[in-house]
Amino acid sequence: MTDNKNTYYLTTPIYYPNDNLHLGHTYTTIIADTLKRFKEIQGKDVYFVTGTDEHGQKLFETAQKAGKKPLEYIDPIVDSAKSLWGKLDIRYDKFVRTTSKEHEKNVQEIFKKLYDQGDIYKSVYKGHYCVSCEAYWTESQLVEGKCPDCGKDVSYHEEESYFFKLSEYTDKLIKLYEENPSFVQPKSRYNEMLSFLKGGLDDLSVSRTSFDWGVKVPFDEKHVIYVWIDALSCYLTGIGYGHDEEQFKKYWPADVHLIAKEILRFHAIIWPALLMALDLPLPKQIFAHGWILFDDDKMSKSKGNIVYPEPIIDLYGVDALKYFILREFTFGNDGSFSNTKFLQRINSDLCNDLGNLVSRSVTMVEKYFNGMIPEPIKVEEVDDDLKNQAIETIGKVEKLVDKFDFSNSLEEIWKLIRRTNKYIDETEPWVLGKEG
Ligand code: MSP
Repeated sequence: MTDNKNTYYLTTPIYYPNDNLHLGHTYTTIIADTLKRFKEIQGKDVYFVTGTDEHGQKLFETAQKAGKKPLEYIDPIVDSAKSLWGKLDIRYDKFVRTTSKEHEKNVQEIFKKLYDQGDIYKSVYKGHYCVSCEAYWTESQLVEGKCPDCGKDVSYHEEESYFFKLSEYTDKLIKLYEENPSFVQPKSRYNEMLSFLKGGLDDLSVSRTSFDWGVKVPFDEKHVIYVWIDALSCYLTGIGYGHDEEQFKKYWPADVHLIAKEILRFHAIIWPALLMALDLPLPKQIFAHGWILFDDDKMSKSKGNIVYPEPIIDLYGVDALKYFILREFTFGNDGSFSNTKFLQRINSDLCNDLGNLVSRSVTMVEKYFNGMIPEPIKVEEVDDDLKNQAIETIGKVEKLVDKFDFSNSLEEIWKLIRRTNKYIDETEPWVLGKEG
């Protein structure tokens, strides 16, 4: 799956606006923004899509509980998400709202195309639905009668539904995985998905009639399109599928879809099958990172332990938060946020190492050279050492970022920062300064 395109297309999930976005959503988005900037420095023409996933029963019910119409409830949350990304200087190119007319029309076209060519058919759905995960489960998939993903209650449904012939894509997906061992990252997630595929796939129910907060099936309006088909399509509609073919051709396929582990199955199985059915090239990679926990516990509203980024930004600034997120967590594994860890990183890495280096360098340049960096007079071995380390660092960082290893790439940069501090200690420029 290599090509010579100079473009780079990356996405975050589109988030549910049922509540204000928290540190978990901020995590994926900061990583995406960092990657975008990095690829741009490498000379790529980058496109970055994010957005909000605004349909579905859960959102409808949340709005209802708040005594509001869906959009009345959603709009202020979308505004606050955009303002958070603005505060963090997140340079996305397109913010997809699934309730936009443009997106809805394109999703209907996708659904109709799949129906016309026989990939979608009408039948009766019998099974269990988890509102929280917006997912259907068969009896055998339930764990002690509850949703196997989130453990919450499910409800039994029997209703007319359209189905996507997912089962017909099982072998093609297995072949895809076997031919592209890096399709899903990290490796443990790839193995998990491949073994799931080997267990065989059922056809997927892709419409509902029990509520109507969604995109209507264009030829059968009592059905709304399953929220995941609606949502996943944002990766196509966000770059112009169905309305700006030139831009779409320029950026598709995606270089990477960044997500967290809980939505991997939708991205690593349903999504490529849909794309195969649409006869479109597949994304090059799906990276499923771990969760940010709070003091080792999953963040959740009911536990009251959700960390919001705004107070951290107000107190410590945008860069401190970005640095912490990129440095502290091994991308791919779960990691814990705690106030102590945050402060330790900020104090030791930013204040001591980087802060010290910047402060003493600037002070000396001002004190001894009126703020102008002088030309070097004599180059000694110790100077060459530092120079070489700086040059080597660039290559190391590039390799690590290409592997999504942001933490170690920052560690390489910090090795250079610490080495530079040591260089200053060793060469004692203040002695020379005093000598004039
Ligand atoms: N709307 C779907 C995604 C559709 S994509 C076509 C959805 N939305 S969500 O609001 O629940 O966002 C889930 C995503 O937010 C995760 O996959 C991850 O990117 C990010 N995170 C939310 N909580 C997180 C943590 N606690 N830790 C790390 N990332 C988390 O699922």
